[in-house]
Amino acid sequence: MVHIRPIRADDGARLNEAYERLSPESKYRRFLGVKPRLTSSDTRYLVQVDGRDHVALVATPLDDPESIIAVARFIRSEQDSRAAEWAIVVGDPYQQEGLATALLERLARAAAERGITRFKATMLADNGPAHRLVRSLAPGATRERHLGTVDEIEVELAS
Ligand SMILES: CC(C)(COP(=O)(O)OP(=O)(O)OC[C@H]1O[C@@H](n2cnc3c(N)ncnc32)[C@H](O)[C@@H]1OP(=O)(O)O)[C@@H](O)C(=O)NCCC(=O)NCCS
Repeated sequence: MVHIRPIRADDGARLNEAYERLSPESKYRRFLGVKPRLTSSDTRYLVQVDGRDHVALVATPLDDPESIIAVARFIRSEQDSRAAEWAIVVGDPYQQEGLATALLERLARAAAERGITRFKATMLADNGPAHRLVRSLAPGATRERHLGTVDEIEVELAS
């Protein structure tokens, strides 16, 4: 059982520890490249969200609230206030249990409440789980761009 809550400014150390625990493949898939660890400015940026244009949710085990096991976030587009880019990562031991689906549903609801109608994600073309996740978010209306090894997929959010 997990608890889902908004990220907090004091989550920096917890986020770094969560990142260190990820497998190289999960890190690569999250950041679309090699990124062994977060820099201090990455961490600052990732925890200091404004709750409106940048929203992040974390999951912690009910019996271990100090441990972050998954993070989902969206950042509103500067060019289009009704669109946002989202990203997600679930710790390797917790994958394939529906956690990303649950987090993404919550994230999409938070986005819709803030006037966002389109959700875009960038993922490796061979990232099967991420593609399945997008399909579960919006089975029908998607717009896709295939850019070599990377796919950009945009969905309309249910209002
Ligand atoms: C993508 C990711 C977030 C999915 O997390 P998760 O908690 O395992 O996802 P869920 O359990 O909610 O499953 C989502 C879908 O992916 C499928 N899936 C998950 N892991 C899978 C795997 N290893 N192989 C095949 N399908 C898989 C599930 O069956 C489900 O599909 P369905 O709804 O059609 O049944 C996770 O694999 C991850 O963190 N990967 C590394 C980072 C990343 O790729 N982020 C996405 C790009 S931003």
